[in-house]
Amino acid sequence: MEHYKASTTKSRALWERAIKLFPGGVSHNIRQFGLPAAGAYPPYITHGEGAHIWDVDGNEYIDWWTTHYSQILGHNNPRVKTAITNQLESGIQYGAPNEPQVQYGEKLQRAVPLLEKMRFTATGAESTTYSVRLSRLFTGKKLIGKSLGGWHGGNDALTFHLNYPYTDDPFYDGVSFDYNDRESFDQMLKKYGKELAAVIVEPMIGAGGAIAPQPGFLNYLREETESRDILLIFDEIITGFRFRYGTAGDGVFGVKPDLLTLGKAAAGGMPLGVYGGREDIMALAAPRAKGGRWVGGGTFSSHPLTMVAGLAVLNQLEQKKKEYPKLSQKGEDFLTRLNEMLSIMKVPILGIGYGSFICVNCLSHVPDEPIITPGTLGALFDAQQQNIMQSYLMQEHIFGYHGLGALSFAHDDQDIELTLERIQRVAEKLGKSKAAK
Ligand SMILES: Cc1ncc(COP(=O)(O)O)c(C=O)c1O
Repeated sequence: MEHYKASTTKSRALWERAIKLFPGGVSHNIRQFGLPAAGAYPPYITHGEGAHIWDVDGNEYIDWWTTHYSQILGHNNPRVKTAITNQLESGIQYGAPNEPQVQYGEKLQRAVPLLEKMRFTATGAESTTYSVRLSRLFTGKKLIGKSLGGWHGGNDALTFHLNYPYTDDPFYDGVSFDYNDRESFDQMLKKYGKELAAVIVEPMIGAGGAIAPQPGFLNYLREETESRDILLIFDEIITGFRFRYGTAGDGVFGVKPDLLTLGKAAAGGMPLGVYGGREDIMALAAPRAKGGRWVGGGTFSSHPLTMVAGLAVLNQLEQKKKEYPKLSQKGEDFLTRLNEMLSIMKVPILGIGYGSFICVNCLSHVPDEPIITPGTLGALFDAQQQNIMQSYLMQEHIFGYHGLGALSFAHDDQDIELTLERIQRVAEKLGKSKAAK
């Protein structure tokens, strides 16, 4: 890391101050980057433009992280910026109903008709929290099932089985299944089927490995939950507006949930969470609803700056409807080339992804069969090598976490070529360091 350290002196100085303020030096664990005990620290970012970001020392990075996959239009989008600055002229937030909230809600509902009723929050975590609460209220049951590796935000009901290799963490007590593995889903139902209020799942597992559903798997979840009066929640916080103008569960994979959540790309970098779906369930969130309880809140919910930004994002994404297949194809071509290159190099690194969403994983070995469940990925995952790979990538000015990230409409062919070249150099270094052991 000598080169990285020499070129990031201002970041290092900030890190040394941050570590005294924040546990682990950060306010979101994923942003810690590498192993601080081994001298790693993150670059501090000053600005972004399109697919690139710059740090305080003036280093430029190709940004695959794209604000936790939010910036599908690229950084500093002019129309989003103008919408925010215009709105800013009228103040910041009033904590009261506002017109942009209605305009954005109508736009969102047209794009996602499953949102018969919806509520806005400031984060994804709040949205999954309220979805869980509504599910418990509606069904009168308590348990919530989730997939191994499924990250739904810092939501107390769902923060378990998140880290490879997903062995039980005694602090949390939850109910999980392995995504794409019908048998493990059946086992969960056999044991807890009567107590489950809901099953929450991302249509494509995001942070848990960029794993797409096997044909029929989501339909299976739908049928098995419906027949037992268990609600199905699709967490579309990553997948919403990522693969098409709308949601992926119904629009790409043909399955309709009872409730769904949105965030990230739906407001292009501004803080947003959405939860919504069936009117009969959402009705329980209303004040004084019969059978309702306390659902909702948030000083910063329906924040006018987020609402106008979201509207500006959706207006542009709607115009780009026809460009989504090209964006997905770009990601898939990248993934194919990446894995061909890594296979020729004979390094135990594998790209997994769907459309424009890509994760690069260091493994103990690359199996002959494709990896289709988070459990299999977890069992093969080499966390130490992964940390080293992330550090090398940063040194090569590829900004990514969780193994890489997602393409935006702003990434061009040169970004792709440079990323491949740089990953090749990283893989060579990793190959050599492994051979040297
Ligand atoms: C699928 C999914 N759900 C929920 C969340 C939580 O969203 P937020 O970080 O806005 O609370 C995330 C964030 O990474 C996510 O990827």
